[in-house]
Amino acid sequence: LHTSVHTCRKPKLPPNPLPPFYCCPPASASLSEPINFTLPDPAEPLRVRRPVHAVGAEYMAKYERAIALMKALPHTDPRSFYQMANIHCAYCTGSYRQTGNQELDMQIHFSWFFFPFHRAYLYFFERIAAKLLGEPDFALPFWSWDVPDGMRMPPEFANSSSPLYDPVRNPRHAPPSLVDLGFVGVESNRTDEQQIQHNLRTMYKQMIGNAALPSLFHGQPFRAGQSDKPGPGTVELSPHNTVHTWTGDIALTNVENMGTYYSAGRDPLFYPHHSNIDRLWQAWREVGAARGYRGHVDFMDHDWLDSSFLFYDEESRLVRITVCNVLDTEKLRYKFDGVGMPWVNARP
Ligand code: C2O
Repeated sequence: LHTSVHTCRKPKLPPNPLPPFYCCPPASASLSEPINFTLPDPAEPLRVRRPVHAVGAEYMAKYERAIALMKALPHTDPRSFYQMANIHCAYCTGSYRQTGNQELDMQIHFSWFFFPFHRAYLYFFERIAAKLLGEPDFALPFWSWDVPDGMRMPPEFANSSSPLYDPVRNPRHAPPSLVDLGFVGVESNRTDEQQIQHNLRTMYKQMIGNAALPSLFHGQPFRAGQSDKPGPGTVELSPHNTVHTWTGDIALTNVENMGTYYSAGRDPLFYPHHSNIDRLWQAWREVGAARGYRGHVDFMDHDWLDSSFLFYDEESRLVRITVCNVLDTEKLRYKFDGVGMPWVNARP
């Protein structure tokens, strides 16, 4: 499945959306054909993504500076925070159509594109941040809501004078509120200790108990010529969607910003949230290898491997990247470190 910037058009938005209402790449995009992605130089230093709760204030100040720099770029700049958020919007609101099937939408949620699309998205986001900071080994920290020490919104994001702050969130879920990985809009009345155990059991179910096959973990195949959203994987529904809904402002029609596709990328917390999702893809394969779960492997289907997405790189070049390019994080020159997987034995 492929798409092209030439076919990008007005998004299909839910009722009462918050502006802006247009998500396609800047007009300059259609002037150039995308270049094909090539892997970074294997001699590049390996970026190490660490948990927000453990990287330290100095490191978080870097992330904060990167967001401030992106926000300061003009909206026409493909590296601006505005355009970064729009990339996500365009890929989930029917802005893009399927190449060869103009009446059908490209959509990267609720299918097997969920993990690879977001991995590629963060890859470019991280490199743009590193470039703007002038720190070639900058790595995107992850919000590890799956381990007890990370189960609160990191305080940096709740400071109203920080560029990491987003006023369009649920005010009840500022720290020290504990995240509910099963959140569907209703406050739970669990104690903190009960909530932690509940969250760990949810992780076990979604990563192990219910995720024994690639289609269960990743989501259903979505091929050219088919309609979108064939079916999500375990982790996409929960904790991914539930943490989005938990973060967004439940008083708004669409639980903006985090709680709905078109606006989720406008919250600087989106990226550390997805950095953790990206880590869980890696964790699912590692747990499978360690325990001999033979279904914990990625698809080998060419309709998946050869599908492509469009992004801008740190040099503002339009790049076409395929799923097969993002299966190995070391080849993309980053890895995860700093937390364990306390849920592997939390069998409900
Ligand atoms: Cu593309 Cu977390 O959504």
